[in-house]
Amino acid sequence: MRIIGTGSALPKKVVTNEMIAQFLDTSDEWISTRTGIKSRHVITDEKLEDLGAEAVMKALEMSGLQASDIDLFIASNVVSEYGTPGISCVVAAKVGLNCPMFDINCACPGFVYALDMAEAYYKAGKVKNVLIACIEEPTRMVSWEDRSTCVLFGDGAGAVVLTEGDNIKGTKLHSEPDIDKIWMTRALTDSPYVTVKEPDVALQMKGREVFRFAVNACTNGVKDLLDEVGIKKEDVSWFMVHQANKRILDAIVDYMKVPQERCPMNIQDHGNSSSASCPILLDECNRKGMFKKGDIIVFSAFGAGLLSGAAVIEW
Ligand code: UT7
Repeated sequence: MRIIGTGSALPKKVVTNEMIAQFLDTSDEWISTRTGIKSRHVITDEKLEDLGAEAVMKALEMSGLQASDIDLFIASNVVSEYGTPGISCVVAAKVGLNCPMFDINCACPGFVYALDMAEAYYKAGKVKNVLIACIEEPTRMVSWEDRSTCVLFGDGAGAVVLTEGDNIKGTKLHSEPDIDKIWMTRALTDSPYVTVKEPDVALQMKGREVFRFAVNACTNGVKDLLDEVGIKKEDVSWFMVHQANKRILDAIVDYMKVPQERCPMNIQDHGNSSSASCPILLDECNRKGMFKKGDIIVFSAFGAGLLSGAAVIEW
């Protein structure tokens, strides 16, 4: 497949580190030196599905396709207000899509997992045009009394439209199932047959252990994938890495021995927007005119699960 359109949408409210330090025992100094984050976009009275619809419409507009041309819609989402239907259906109803669609919940690497699926459907001869939208509101998953998590995240949506082509050169997905490192739970409705009350638990994360997983999964995943497809890291034009922590990005640049400028970052303005982070970064770089035909772009992302994945495409 080949990406022919990108789009993104962000909540209007920008929350700086200083604003958080007004109600939590934290500081701009701690947050920016430990993470690289200076501010993030935070959902207020917007609806997540409206952000999703805006990102989708922008990607469709750039692609030159209509909603009716799309054969498959894959939405990546961790949490939304809807238990059912999936956010794919909620967004589809807004933008007039009526193709087969489904949600995936692969946490932060959702975009890479969706690319892998889109390519598999295409190679099976089942689709010609695929829409992927990663639509996330992690600021509604954290406790805003927990300084170790709430400072890290931001909300947003990123979308891509793909059509026929052999530009996805390879994907590599990886898992190390472990639900103790990043998790949250939501209570279900009461039932007379369930006697144990399930608690609502806001996002919990063992930061240091996730950090280690992220660096290993990302560096090994990218190296293995490039070996598999026979592309040298020197020939990669751009490394689009999940924006979780600037120190993770620095570690990857260091390990891969690639120039910093080939690893674009927007974490300072967005924080970690889960699976939306890669497609938002892609859209921002694309709209700045950074990509030229033939550029090799590597995506790498990691997160809850623990899951990680990498994909390499030609622009
Ligand atoms: O997208 C999902 C994937 N997630 C990630 O990739 C996240 C990976 N992990 C990380 O990015 C980092 O581990 C964090 C940014 C989450 C934390 O950085 P760290 O250097 O690993 O810090 P730490 O958790 O070991 O905490 C160090 C100290 C602790 O204090 P003590 O126990 O040493 O006294 C924390 O209580 O920093 C304290 N702390 C804070 N202080 C001020 C934790 N959060 C804050 C805060 N402000 N916001």
